[in-house]
Amino acid sequence: MAATKIVDNVYYVGVQDPDLVVFDIIMPTQHGTTYNSYLVKGTEKTALIDTVKEPFTEQFFANIEQVVPIDAIDYLIVNHNEPDHSGAARTLLERNPKIKIYCGAASMPYVRNILNIDADITGLKDAQQLELGGKTLTFRLMPYMHWPDTAMNFLEQDRILFSNDGFAAHICTDRLYADELTGGVDLAHEFWYYFDSIMRPFTGYIRRNLTKLDSHDIDIIAPSHGPLYRQQPRQWIDKYRDWSVDKSEGHRIVSVFYASNYGNTEKLAQQISRRLVDAGYEAPLVDITQTGEQRLKEQLEKSLATLVGTPTFNGDAVKPVWDFVALYSMVYAVGKKAAVFGSYGWAGEGIKMVADRLGALKQKMFTETFGARLVPSTEEKQNLDTWTSKLIEFIG
Ligand code: FEO
Repeated sequence: MAATKIVDNVYYVGVQDPDLVVFDIIMPTQHGTTYNSYLVKGTEKTALIDTVKEPFTEQFFANIEQVVPIDAIDYLIVNHNEPDHSGAARTLLERNPKIKIYCGAASMPYVRNILNIDADITGLKDAQQLELGGKTLTFRLMPYMHWPDTAMNFLEQDRILFSNDGFAAHICTDRLYADELTGGVDLAHEFWYYFDSIMRPFTGYIRRNLTKLDSHDIDIIAPSHGPLYRQQPRQWIDKYRDWSVDKSEGHRIVSVFYASNYGNTEKLAQQISRRLVDAGYEAPLVDITQTGEQRLKEQLEKSLATLVGTPTFNGDAVKPVWDFVALYSMVYAVGKKAAVFGSYGWAGEGIKMVADRLGALKQKMFTETFGARLVPSTEEKQNLDTWTSKLIEFIG
C-alpha cells in the first residue's frame, strides 16, 4: 500500500508483508501482516511514528517520500523497540542524522541498543506532550504491553490513538480500515488471536494501562499491525478490558494438574484435592493429557495456586507435563503459589525438575515436593496428608 492520507497532514506510510507465515517464532500468521508507520506533519515539525522491519526499509522510505523528503523529518517517535518496528531506524538516522528521537523514558537504553550510533534521544514521561505546530502528541506509557518500553501516542486535534502493538492484528491488507476488509479474513478471530498470542501474558499490566485511555476521546485507533479502527473504536479497547480481568478474583481455586500413566500420580492428585476441598478450596482435578491448551490456560488464570503432578520416565518429567509448564509464561501467572508431586519407579527426578522450572517462571514455590514410589503405601498416604496440611498453610 502506498502512502495513504488518514486525515489532513496525517499519513499511513507502513509496508505489507504478505509472505510472513510465523511471527516471533511462536505465532503462525495465516494472513501475513503489515508493519505500520505514521507520519504527522505539523506547521513547525514533522514526526514519524515508528519504523518497519529492516528488510522493508527502502519500500518504507519510498512511501515516506510520497509525502515528504526523508530530510524533512524532524522527530522519530519510538513506541516499541522490537525490530519489526525499529528495524529501519538506524538507516533512517544515517540518511537524516538531524532527526531527534522521542521515546518513553524507560525505553532510552533499548533505543541505544537498537541504533548503536550516536543519536539525540529524549525520554518522555507519561502524559508529556510533543508539539508539532497545530498537532499535539500526548505520550501514554504502556509498560509491558507487551514490552517494558511500550508507549502509545494520542494525537489531540485529530483524536487518533497510535497504539503500537496494542489492538493490532496480523492481517496483510491493502485497505486502511478494518471496516473495509474484504472476504476471507475473520477479523474478530485475528484480533483475539493476536491478544492471546502476544498480550495475554501481560493482562495484569494491561488492565492498569487501559485506564490511561479513559480520558481520551478516540476517533481512530491506528495500531502497528493490520487495519485501523474507526467504527466504534472503544469496542476494541473494551475487548482488551474484558479479556484482561483477573479471573482468579472472587474464587479460591487451587487447581490440581496431573498426568498419570498407571493411575498412581492420579491417586496422589485425588487425595490432595480431597484435603484441599476439606480446607475450603475449590480443587478441580485436571488431567493434562485430556485437556486442550485453551482450557489449561483458562484454568491457570482462574487459579490462585496450582499443583502439578508428574510421573518420571527415563529420568525426566513427561513431555505433556513440560508442554503444560510452558503455558505458565503464555498467561499472566506471575507470583502464584505452586507445588509439585508425583509417583515414580526409581528416583523421581522429574518432580524436582518441574519444581525448579516453575520457580524459574516466577511461581512462589512450596519448597517441599512430594514423591511416592509406584503404588502409594499406607505410610506414604499419611505422609501426603501431612504434606498437604503444610501446603495449605503455605497457600493461606
Ligand atoms: Fe509488533 Fe512487539 O512488535
